[in-house]
Amino acid sequence: MTFLTNLDDTTLKAGTVPTFALSQRGRAGMQLLGAVQKFSSGVLRPIAAENFAADKRGKALSAEHEAATPGGSARDRIKAARAVCESDNVYRLERFIQRWVAEENFNRGIPAIEERRAKFEAFNAAQGETELMGTLDLSKEVSVPKYYDRVEWHLEPGGWDGYDLYGALFAYGVGPYVFSHGGYAAVGVGDDITQQRAKTIRQFPKASYGRIYEPGCGGVSTLKAVNSVFPDAELHGSDLSPLLLKNGQKMASRFGFPVHLKLADAAHDTGEADESFDGVITYALHHELPPKANREMFRELFRIMKPGADIVISDPPPFRAVSMFHAVILDWDTDHREEPFFSAVLHDSLDAMLEEAGFVNVESYAIGQDQYPWVTRAMKPETLSPAEAA
Ligand SMILES: C[S@@+](CC[C@H](N)C(=O)[O-])C[C@H]1O[C@@H](n2cnc3c(N)ncnc32)[C@H](O)[C@@H]1O
Repeated sequence: MTFLTNLDDTTLKAGTVPTFALSQRGRAGMQLLGAVQKFSSGVLRPIAAENFAADKRGKALSAEHEAATPGGSARDRIKAARAVCESDNVYRLERFIQRWVAEENFNRGIPAIEERRAKFEAFNAAQGETELMGTLDLSKEVSVPKYYDRVEWHLEPGGWDGYDLYGALFAYGVGPYVFSHGGYAAVGVGDDITQQRAKTIRQFPKASYGRIYEPGCGGVSTLKAVNSVFPDAELHGSDLSPLLLKNGQKMASRFGFPVHLKLADAAHDTGEADESFDGVITYALHHELPPKANREMFRELFRIMKPGADIVISDPPPFRAVSMFHAVILDWDTDHREEPFFSAVLHDSLDAMLEEAGFVNVESYAIGQDQYPWVTRAMKPETLSPAEAA
């Protein structure tokens, strides 16, 4: 799950929308993927869910899963539920389509963008350095964590930095033609991920914020939503991908808002001062980190937040919050859509991690269908305990 920029987004600054489109063949190829994915999650998946609910073993597993204090191991329960699902051909077809679309996004998308390479390069070059807003600091040498290296996230060939025109591919191909229908990973069918981001930002409890920080900000889709809700806030972000950060600064400038971006491993050292932010947002980040790195990141975020500052998180819901059938659907991403830590994080608890890091008023709840977006929010205490202050 990642970036979405609609070509007809009216908040783009005049003159910053490409005046060319993908070829008819390129567009049709991507539109077919969007339509097939929508059919899979909107038509086939509910049938598979009904078949699971009608199965005797499926019923028993759902009852165990929904018990106030479920016995046995959640991992074993999901494994047994997966076996029930896999005995159903509708489930198998639905999952086949999900995997096929996830691969074809790149198999079709990259050639479609390549057909327009010269135009995209000219379009990028036309935005001169002087028009860029905010700052971009790629100067610090960052050792890429082992968990991140060599993973082709979401089946993206070469990983986040594997193809120089991934920015164009997501903004003008996969985003508008495939992701716009929802119905993949934790995103429900028909859901609009731009709206979901804005709704998440509205979970910040205060009416205004001075400085807001986003670790793992990628191509700034979420910082754009922050800007739309809190237009006066100063926005900062970090990522491990230089390509995403460069594209992010360009994209923010096209929308006409400044961002301050840094290359950093936010689980280790954000490079930001102690107690310097009023708010932190994380979006679609924690399921990409091993639980240990998440714990380290929460400690680092706690350090850079002012006393009384708020943190709002949107990540896929934990297994305990969704139905037994939906837990199987989410768990599938770990093995089939190159999300190595997805299940480990969904078995764990972001709430507990926040509390361990010292946050208070921790709460989590859903603001959309299938418990997504799942929001976790908390606050850094106004005054630290004597142990924390020492
Ligand atoms: C699924 S993307 C989400 C991007 C963005 N938050 C959004 O809403 O579009 C996850 C991002 O986290 C970044 N990331 C992963 N581990 C990180 C770390 N330790 N420090 C900084 N960024 C990290 C990845 O490079 C990627 O851009």
